[in-house]
Amino acid sequence: MTQKIRKAVFPAAGLGTRFLPATKSSPKEMLPLVDKPLIQYSVEEAVASGIESILIITGRDKTAIENHFDISFELEQVLQERGKQEMFELVRAVSDLAKISYTRQKQALGLGHAILQAKDFVGDESFAVLLADDVIDAETPALKQLIDVYEKYDAPVLATMQVAGEAISRFGVIDAEEIEPNVSKIKNIVEKPKFDDAPSDMAVIGRYVFTPELFDAIERSETGAGGEYQVADAMRILLDEGKPFYAVRLDGVRHDAGDKLGFLIATVEFALKRTDLAPEFKAYLKSLNL
Ligand code: UTP
Repeated sequence: MTQKIRKAVFPAAGLGTRFLPATKSSPKEMLPLVDKPLIQYSVEEAVASGIESILIITGRDKTAIENHFDISFELEQVLQERGKQEMFELVRAVSDLAKISYTRQKQALGLGHAILQAKDFVGDESFAVLLADDVIDAETPALKQLIDVYEKYDAPVLATMQVAGEAISRFGVIDAEEIEPNVSKIKNIVEKPKFDDAPSDMAVIGRYVFTPELFDAIERSETGAGGEYQVADAMRILLDEGKPFYAVRLDGVRHDAGDKLGFLIATVEFALKRTDLAPEFKAYLKSLNL
């Protein structure tokens, strides 16, 4: 029997330099996609995948995230006084979503270092990691797709997607052998390879299921430029020791909402799915005659 994945870690302490100046004093995880902050989409995905307990790793100026998932007494009181029951319920539902705790990453020393801050929270259980700026629109929640593979193979699982052409150089890329449709056993991971050196067209994206062995591997990994700990280095240590890692090719559409163009595309796609907005929004887009 594999352990149930109950805990999820959300690293949200990055500097968000690709989205400046919006991210100067506000975390990119709070950028709104239509009317919900990015991080709410992935918290909802985690809950829909069976997660019971969440740790958000915050950096400087991240109080907006804590406030968003907390009860807002003042706002709720005003909404009730004004008879706005529907809005009251909408606001209350956010704070009822999940059991969430927070810890700080005091310096942005990379994703590996951010995950390391979750060591005490995770203990000796396998756990999930979600990067909220990767918004994944999928019928079966993306994390659930990973957990299903974890439960079958009892080993860590990474989410991947196919990336065509030169764009592959912006991702971690796996060298892997497909063992069943959409599931591969990983042989190696190469971080941001040149197009010609990429071992495949399968890019790693922001959903992971790890075993607690990862923490020790992060601690043993060498830091790169700027003292950053890369999670891919820790994974490579475990791979070199013969530990199995699997990859699932996600069924769904992934948006890089931490990037300006990716965010704009996601906004249009999500708005066009909204029954309350789509008719007028579509009419507007058509009127542009681009
Ligand atoms: P990114 O690679 O997107 O970096 O981080 P970033 O700093 O957030 O954004 P850019 O590239 O400068 O625009 C991937 C994920 O890892 C988290 C980020 O919050 C994001 O969810 N992260 C990154 C941390 O929590 N701490 C870090 O030190 C670095």
